[in-house]
Amino acid sequence: EGTKLWGGRFVGNTDPVMESFNASIAYDQRMWDADIRGSKAYVKALEKAQLVSMEENQKILHGLDQIADEWAKGTFEIKPGDEDIHTANERRLKELIGAPGGKLHTGRSRNDQVVTDMRLWLRDAIATLTSDALQLISTMVERAAVEINVLFPGYTHLQRAQPIRWSHWILSHAVALSRDVDRLLEIKKRVNVLPLGSGAIAGTPFNIDRELLQKELAFDGISLNSMDATGQRDFVAEFLFWASLCLTHLSKMAEDLMLYSTKEFSFVTLSDAYSTGSSLMPQKRNADSLELIRSKAGRLFGRCAGFMMTLKGLPSTYNKDLQEDKEAMFDCYDTVHAVLQVTTGVLSTLKINQSVMEAALSPDMLATDLAYYLVRKGVPFRDAHSLSGKAVFTAESKNVSLNQLTKEDLIAISPLFEDDVSSLWDYQSSVEQYSAPGGTAKSSVETQVEHLRKWTKIL
Ligand code: ARG
Repeated sequence: EGTKLWGGRFVGNTDPVMESFNASIAYDQRMWDADIRGSKAYVKALEKAQLVSMEENQKILHGLDQIADEWAKGTFEIKPGDEDIHTANERRLKELIGAPGGKLHTGRSRNDQVVTDMRLWLRDAIATLTSDALQLISTMVERAAVEINVLFPGYTHLQRAQPIRWSHWILSHAVALSRDVDRLLEIKKRVNVLPLGSGAIAGTPFNIDRELLQKELAFDGISLNSMDATGQRDFVAEFLFWASLCLTHLSKMAEDLMLYSTKEFSFVTLSDAYSTGSSLMPQKRNADSLELIRSKAGRLFGRCAGFMMTLKGLPSTYNKDLQEDKEAMFDCYDTVHAVLQVTTGVLSTLKINQSVMEAALSPDMLATDLAYYLVRKGVPFRDAHSLSGKAVFTAESKNVSLNQLTKEDLIAISPLFEDDVSSLWDYQSSVEQYSAPGGTAKSSVETQVEHLRKWTKIL
């Protein structure tokens, strides 16, 4: 057991079960590139501090490149005793270059190393997720632009509410996603801060130039306090929450689409590429893609809640509990990365059934407009609401639709109803009234499209 990097003060061996219980190499090896990048920067700072010579620096850099090459080619051999990516890379470095390899960790601790690796890794992950999300948003916005003339029923409480543009529905989800992107970029600012040079807890006693490290690793800032830098994981917690919120938005959209794709609604048809069949019922076309999108929000909220429980009550600085941060972070990344791509696929291949959508509109959905008709004739809205409600009631008792009420029926409800009330029963002109910013009129939906197009470009 003398091979352990921390083995000096030990005489007894680690229990084999403890060995694997303690190890994180199985999952943290995916940070190999970040770990190498961090070490390459660190050795430069060591040389500047005259802790390694120029030749040693060259040897270490060369060794690190060789290790990176092995990881990239898949030939890196994980050996028993390689506890995590940091110890594995250092063990290999010493195998490759001998004694100078032992100088790399001078003044460094795995406590500042691991959190440096994670920040580097997450920074790249955030860049990928941002571009995934932007692709989805663009797909939605362009679809909304093309299908802007399609109307269909809008629902509140899943009850028929008012006619809206299909594009208004699409954009309602795109707008929420655009806030997720904004939030992610906010988080990135706090992620992109350099912890290296914090040591285990107290900082570094050597002349480690942290500004050099910052520049080498392209961090936006340098951590202010070594205990905070090594012991806090709020940047991970934020990301986990972000992931669960983003997927909560997508699960809402998926739920709507599932409903719209049922035979009973038939507003949309999912493409074969995103549907699955039943092993028993030959007629089935299940929206498994949407169901899985819906499910993942729960999974990720579990990651977030679980990690918050891990953090709660921890004492200051690094504790091994923090090793749990990585599987949560990786899973949130992998899951959101997949969900965003699948959602883009679903939405770019979805067919809409325009005639079914428009046929699903019914005059009762214009009862609000009937009330507004009276408002425009000076009736206070509360009274207009009640009079329109009476009209709905009358239509229901006569078993006719709202637009089939006779002139006499309407005049009995309010003498203010005139012949021009017939112009209300037109869904296109109904939605066109909603032209204030944010509404479902064509001009307003076009404004939304333009706004999101511009926003995507600025980003
Ligand atoms: N594998 C560890 C982790 O992921 C690295 C840090 C270990 N630090 C320590 N003091 N044991 O958190």
